Amino acid sequence: MSIAVNEQERIFRLDTPDTSYICAVTDDPGYLGHVYYGPRIPDDDIRCLLRTSENPYIPSMNKRDKLSFTDCYPMEYPVYGTGDFREPALKIRTPEGYCAAELNYAGYSVENFKTGPVPGVYGDNGQVLTIKLKDDCLKLEVLLKYTVFDDCNAVIRHSEIINNSSSTLFLERALSASFDMDNEDYELITLNGSWARERHINRKPIGYGFQGVYSDRGETSHQHHPFLGIVSKDCTQSRGEAIGVNLIYSGNFIASVYEGQFDNLRVMTGIDPESFEWKLNAGESFVTPQAALVYSAEGLGGMSRSFHDLYREHLIRSPWKDKARPILINNWEATYFDFNEEKLLAIAKEAAACGIEMLVMDDGWFGKRNDDNSSLGDWNVNENKLKGGLKKLVDGVNALGLKFGIWFEPEMISPDSDLYRAHPDWAIAVPGRTAGLARNQYVLDISRSEVRDHVFRSLADILDSANIEYVKWDMNRPLSDLASLGLEADRQKELSHRYVQGVYELQGRLMERYPDLLLENCSGGGARFDAGMLCFSPQIWCSDDTDAIERLLIQEGTALVYPLSAMGAHVSDCPNHTVGRVTPFETRGYVALAGTFGYELDITRIPEADRAMIPGQVKMYHMYNELVAAGDYYRLASYSGNNSYDSWMCVRKDKSEALLTFIQVKGRPNAHSRKLKVEGLDPGKTYRIYRFDMETVSEVPYGDGKAYHGSTLANAGLIINNMWGDNKGILLHIKEE
Ligand code: GLA
Repeated sequence: MSIAVNEQERIFRLDTPDTSYICAVTDDPGYLGHVYYGPRIPDDDIRCLLRTSENPYIPSMNKRDKLSFTDCYPMEYPVYGTGDFREPALKIRTPEGYCAAELNYAGYSVENFKTGPVPGVYGDNGQVLTIKLKDDCLKLEVLLKYTVFDDCNAVIRHSEIINNSSSTLFLERALSASFDMDNEDYELITLNGSWARERHINRKPIGYGFQGVYSDRGETSHQHHPFLGIVSKDCTQSRGEAIGVNLIYSGNFIASVYEGQFDNLRVMTGIDPESFEWKLNAGESFVTPQAALVYSAEGLGGMSRSFHDLYREHLIRSPWKDKARPILINNWEATYFDFNEEKLLAIAKEAAACGIEMLVMDDGWFGKRNDDNSSLGDWNVNENKLKGGLKKLVDGVNALGLKFGIWFEPEMISPDSDLYRAHPDWAIAVPGRTAGLARNQYVLDISRSEVRDHVFRSLADILDSANIEYVKWDMNRPLSDLASLGLEADRQKELSHRYVQGVYELQGRLMERYPDLLLENCSGGGARFDAGMLCFSPQIWCSDDTDAIERLLIQEGTALVYPLSAMGAHVSDCPNHTVGRVTPFETRGYVALAGTFGYELDITRIPEADRAMIPGQVKMYHMYNELVAAGDYYRLASYSGNNSYDSWMCVRKDKSEALLTFIQVKGRPNAHSRKLKVEGLDPGKTYRIYRFDMETVSEVPYGDGKAYHGSTLANAGLIINNMWGDNKGILLHIKEE
């Protein structure tokens, strides 16, 4: 039983295999408080941790006598306006303009989990605890939902706000999850960056006041990420405490920590209130996105593995989820806009000869698009470029033995497009104000159903016209100049959330009509790499930066939360188009192997020595991909921290084998070899180590060739010789004897 309720004492506990999450209700007033989140503990009554009998918490017989109580109590879902002066999870406004609210306990239920709408988790081995809170004055009901699965160390939370009154209420803030805890010298981890350097890991001590990240760009963004790690000071990859909070959502978010006067922390996440308001008519309800919480007593590695398991088993739905994805070659960095059918067929022919399995035609195939100035919205094939049309090209590619995939940017509209000329009002813009262009384009108002229907028809017409087995769904600019002609004045602040819901609806329709389609989401690289999009696409393009060394940082940050099977990663040409760096072709392959693996280069023009290596890399992918995609991820070293080398491992769940990747970013003169402690193996099993040899495309014994116990490799370590040169890599296959 994973959910237990002590009805008499009003204590609620959620147990996962290794963790317990406990909340309870005070006697008077009936406030729901957060008691504990940590390693699994026995069923003791630990309500004393709510400290309701201590100064300054002393409860008053009349709860309204003492605001200090409200301002100190570890609230489980804090509200605005009645004396808790910290950040609220919920803020309501009445038609009169009053904002005070107070939530009191009003009951609970425990049910078997039933899969709900996407985005969200799914599964048939879960339970849901619903705690009902209410404000009698507002006639408002708040349902806090907690889901746990038997096989996962995660708690998934969301809330539902129900207006039982006879008048309209306005939600100014309705977050998904919030909980209070003591600050025991914790540090905060966030994932931050920019275009081409998404999700770099940042770690800093938590201090007083408000700190956190948000996006108001209409997408999760390159700059910040809907993730927070609250970690103990001594937290490493394998030791220490880590709490991870990740919002399952693809739009504006906030993820914050507030440290208050008693060194208490308030951790919260949800839709960013800055750009949000929701008009809740009488009888209506609003459901927030889900947030996944993970506690790990095994450092960051334990946290990552719990997120990976949760997302692989209970979030990603595509039939491609557990299948080897076709190795694709994408023509973006090969040709940019400058291609025709001859060029694509030449790439496909050479790719087929090397064992590559799919050609993806990127931007530039439609309208009159020869640069990024036009044609978004005109999803008809440019027959001047692709003579004979799309079907002829796709048939030609299929005849070479390759699948065919295509790029779309369905949410966008170029001012220079037939669509814009016909429907200028479909672009998001404030009437009377010149809207800002980004990458020369506007955003379509996907919140409007007629716009969505048009977009869907355009996609379907193309997908029905030829044998297209993959779609790259791109989104290349943030939302600005917000206004929707489809919304009344008092609903304008609903646009960003309605937009995201529109995207979800479109992608849901797409997957319903083309269930076998392999969908890869993308947003100017990785600006919409988030758990919401993973419900629709099993993989997301990680970053436009394809440089192997830059990717070490991006992929490490991404893998902190998301499984490697979800990370779009390609081998590209050198000097790298983004940073101008030159790295060995082998290394580019090893780094891309930690993701979906593919190519992004002109295979007809790269150096012969590189091209000759591709069949071997293809074989390498087929040898190891399953282990990478399904294995447990262990990070052994971080270039982001040591500025010298990077290493990670994927260990089969039964611990019979592992793949270790080591990238030496900087060669060291006159130095010893490096000693690397290997994690995740079975201490009692013995293993022999083999090196993947790129030249012979086979495994050769590594080091002294002897077998070692997992515990020896973990504690004493293994030797990685210094390699001659920078940016070198080595791949080790560790196999049980
Ligand atoms: C974005 C994507 C790229 C490519 C271009 C095409 O930047 O991230 O991979 O598809 O758009 O315009």
